[in-house]
Amino acid sequence: MSLFDLLRNLRRVQTSREDFLMSGEPPRYVAVIMDGNGRWAARRHLPAIAGHREGARALKRIIKASHNAGVRELTVYAFSTENWQRPREEVDALMDMFAELIDREVPELNDERVRVSFIGRRRELSERLLGRIRWAEELTAGNREMTLFIAFNYGGRAEIADAAKAAAAAGFDGGEEDFGRFMYAPDMHDPELLIRTSGEQRVSNFLLWQCAYSELYFSDRMWPDFRDEDLAAAFNDFSRRSRRFGAR
Ligand code: IPE
Ligand code: IPE
Ligand code: MG
Repeated sequence: MSLFDLLRNLRRVQTSREDFLMSGEPPRYVAVIMDGNGRWAARRHLPAIAGHREGARALKRIIKASHNAGVRELTVYAFSTENWQRPREEVDALMDMFAELIDREVPELNDERVRVSFIGRRRELSERLLGRIRWAEELTAGNREMTLFIAFNYGGRAEIADAAKAAAAAGFDGGEEDFGRFMYAPDMHDPELLIRTSGEQRVSNFLLWQCAYSELYFSDRMWPDFRDEDLAAAFNDFSRRSRRFGAR
C-alpha cells in the first residue's frame, strides 16, 4: 500500500468516526436572542424603534426559513424582564409595535398552521396587549406545523422563581424531570441550539432552565441583518457539533 492509500484510508476511518459523533441533522428545537436592533438603528442615525421594526421583518423571514428547514419549535426572546429599564419612549413604542404585529402577522401564521404561544410574566402587561396575546394563543392553539414561542416580559430567573412558588403551592416533592412542568410552557422542548446575534456572547437571563445542554452559536450580524443564509450557517455549524450531555 502506498503512503497515499494509507493516508486516504486513515482519513476514511476518521470521517466515519466523526460522522458517528456528529448529529448531522438540522436542529428541531431552536431558541434565538434577537439582539442588535438598537445598534442597527444607531448606525443609521435612526431611533431605536426603527431598529425594532426592521427586527420584526427579520423575525418574519426567520420563522419561514426555520419552518422550511424542519424546525418544530422556535423560541424567540422579544422582551426581557430587564428591558423595562429602557427609556420610556422606547418601551411604549415597543409595546404598541407588539400589539400591531400580533394583529397583522398572527392570521398569516395561522394560515401556515403555526401555533403561537407566549412565555413570560403576564401581570405587568397592559390589558390591551394581554387581550391580543390571548386571542393569538386561542386562534392558533390547534396548529401542529410548528410552534413559535414568544418570550415576552420573560426572565429565566423569574421563570424558575415562579415555578418554585407554583411547585411549593402544589406540595410538589418530585425530581428534576417533573419540575419542568411548572415552567411557563411545560410542553416546550429544551432548545438544541441557542443563537444570539449582534456579537454579544452572553445569555442575558434567557431560558436558564431549558438551555442546560443547548449548543450555543454567536453571530456578529445585527438582528435586522440576519438572513436565511446566516440561519443556514448556524444550522450547518450545529450539525457538526458533538453533543455528549456529560456522557463519554
Ligand atoms: C434587541 O435589540 C431587542 C430588544 C431587547 C427588545 P436591542 O434593542 O437590545 O439592540 P442593541 O443591543 O441595543 O443593539
Ligand atoms: C436580551 O437582549 C433581550 C432581548 C433580545 C429581548 P438585551 O439587549 O436586553 O441584553 P443585554 O442588556 O445586552 O445583556
Ligand atoms: Mg441588546
